[in-house]
Amino acid sequence: MFHKIKRGVYMNKLKVIILAGGQGTRMKSKMPKVLHKVLDRAMIDYVIEASKEIKADDIMVIVGHQSAMVKSVLGSDLKYAYQKEQLGTGHAVMQAVDFIEDDENILILYGDTPLIKPQTLNKLIDIHTKEKNYATVISSFVDNPTGYGRIVRENGIFNKIVEQKDTTEEQAKIKEINTGVYIFNSKALKNSLNNLSNDNAQKEYYLTDTLEIIKNTGNKIGIMIASDNEEFLGVNSKSELAIANKIMRNRINKAHMDNGITIEDPDNTYIGKDVVIKEDTVILPGCIIEGKTTIGTDCIIGPNVRITSSSISDCVNITSSTILSSSVDSYTNIGPYAYLRPNSKIGKHVKIGDFVEIKNSSIDDGTKVSHLTYVGDSTVGKNVNFGCGTVTVNYDGKNKHRTIIEDDAFIGCNTNLIAPVNIGKNASTGAGSTITKDVPENSLAISRVKEQINKIDYNK
Ligand code: UD1
Ligand code: CA
Repeated sequence: MFHKIKRGVYMNKLKVIILAGGQGTRMKSKMPKVLHKVLDRAMIDYVIEASKEIKADDIMVIVGHQSAMVKSVLGSDLKYAYQKEQLGTGHAVMQAVDFIEDDENILILYGDTPLIKPQTLNKLIDIHTKEKNYATVISSFVDNPTGYGRIVRENGIFNKIVEQKDTTEEQAKIKEINTGVYIFNSKALKNSLNNLSNDNAQKEYYLTDTLEIIKNTGNKIGIMIASDNEEFLGVNSKSELAIANKIMRNRINKAHMDNGITIEDPDNTYIGKDVVIKEDTVILPGCIIEGKTTIGTDCIIGPNVRITSSSISDCVNITSSTILSSSVDSYTNIGPYAYLRPNSKIGKHVKIGDFVEIKNSSIDDGTKVSHLTYVGDSTVGKNVNFGCGTVTVNYDGKNKHRTIIEDDAFIGCNTNLIAPVNIGKNASTGAGSTITKDVPENSLAISRVKEQINKIDYNK
């Protein structure tokens, strides 16, 4: 089987195996390591995406520790192999033998290196193919190699990889490390897996030993020296997770700034990989923008805004607010301190002011919900004015009911709208009313005690 990659070079079928079976003991967490998040996504997601971007023919993830949880997060469109016991990275790849066929290139990636770039993987494939290697590993030179496997060379060429715990004093000083990214000729890999032993400090089957085994059969091992060490950070602890987050954050923020978005303080702005923002929008400090969110041009977002999986149109201002799975149309102002819960659809030139919560409702153009109001399960027309302290009473303890407010209605301050209820076009409610019946168009509904009683001198 041949595989055409975008550079137009014909080569063997490319398959990717991603290791994600380990517990990640050093994370000190109940959650499997590869599910810990870099921005809004599990770290392994980035590795899978990079594999898809290089147009791999097939991807297999090796799961083990809490496999059900890992699979449910990653979804069913990937192939999985199950590693019952975590006996090492080589043992993990052994679980994929049925996936590996003759005359293929097998790229192996670790699920805990989220910063890897597809361009780098393409470069590795190129070198591997051009040099006709049986395996090619990416190495990098680092100031502090502690924890990584060391690349041992002999007369400049690859000799073996020695894991931290197996190093001699001399080997421990080597600063060229194994990044954990390799590509193998499938046959050579399969044969070497059959010859792996666990005779080492950790009593594990190391994938790294396969390279020495292949070399010993007289086949060539290549080394590609990384130009950017950042990409190969292996996340083994919470502090490394924080470093990975920072690097990813800077990468994404820089790309937005290059596209003409102003980010006032990139160190304090958290934008997920799937977010799309148009030029001339300004992001002020303290914003978290995540999921499949889109933001138009000329918006001012922030300070302190969280937007998740929402679509924000052009010329929208949002201050100190939270918006979840909702849409906001152009020229609308949100906040400060507004909370838009899922399935809210806000029109053009709308004002959603302070301490307003909207849930599962549509608010049409020109409407003002300025202060201290709850609108839930409602359909609100155009140019409606909500007085301060309006509550749509949508829940009777068992079921949720809808409130419908038609165009140009005026809701007096502190009105309770007991749903299901319909406020007609250009109707109004008196301040402090509890509305239990539909209000016809052009009418005023008042529902409160008829007359105020003043008890003179009562407090004297
Ligand atoms: C590994 C390499 C080391 C390299 C480093 C780069 C080996 C033996 N060592 O060390 O040379 O410098 O990565 O980051 O490969 N996993 C399984 N099943 C297992 C064990 C691990 O699926 O039985 C998975 C883990 O979930 C993880 C990945 O393999 O995603 C790497 O394992 P980890 O324990 O982090 O290896 P390192 O000690 O970092
Ligand atoms: Ca690791």
